[in-house]
Amino acid sequence: MRRTDNIVILTGAGISAESGLGTFRDEGGLWAQHRIEDVATPEAFARDPALVHRFYNARREQAHAAAPNAAHEALARLQAAWRGLITLVTQNVDGLHEKAGASVIHMHGELSRALCAACDHRWDAPLVMETGEVCPACGIGAARPDVVWFGEFPYHMERIADALQSCDLFAAIGTSGQVYPAAGFVEEARMAGAATIELNLRDSDTSFAFDEHIIGPASKTVPAWVDRLLA
Ligand code: APR
Repeated sequence: MRRTDNIVILTGAGISAESGLGTFRDEGGLWAQHRIEDVATPEAFARDPALVHRFYNARREQAHAAAPNAAHEALARLQAAWRGLITLVTQNVDGLHEKAGASVIHMHGELSRALCAACDHRWDAPLVMETGEVCPACGIGAARPDVVWFGEFPYHMERIADALQSCDLFAAIGTSGQVYPAAGFVEEARMAGAATIELNLRDSDTSFAFDEHIIGPASKTVPAWVDRLLA
């Protein structure tokens, strides 16, 4: 890698696991404890907003109390060293990349933000969102977590597609490769001629598509990988 190369990095729940935040599909993960159709769809929110708020309030309080780990910090260090060349995209909504000082594209939204279900107004969410709160802008729509639910479109897709088109290296860190469009980013990067690397505890559903694999916990593998890049 040269210091003129563009790198796109995609992170998933695995990068925050060692900060104490649960992943979705590992043993005992969030989707083993809750049904997606009960807590992570627009229909779920329309049917039982209190249940959905309880699910996200618990995650928001955990994320608020959590600290970034060495993996988040290493990516912030890489971004600072290679100004403007590192596009960091996360599927996570926990805010740990920002806490580590990185700038990040949130394709699945953020727990720290609220969204109006009617007018798309966004504002900083309170730690605990109450059922029945309405939008401070239009006064009509229900206040919901600004998190992209199943069946909704991820955010910033054009900006992400542009970055993938012009990247020299694509890295996926701590993601199972089971949810699209993020799981398809590696193919887009390959078609643009990028080298690809996966950092994970184990193989993912898209491991076949990566040139290189580094197996191990992110708090160990990501700092070592960044040191290698910056050497
Ligand atoms: N270090 C590195 N990787 C890890 C670690 C760790 N300490 N712990 C777990 N992993 C890996 C797992 O092996 C798995 O591949 O992190 C991945 C977590 O996968 P998921 O739980 O499926 O999380 P993610 O890929 O981020 O899910 C994508 O699905 O439910 C939706 O919107 C939700 O953003 C989420 C999306």
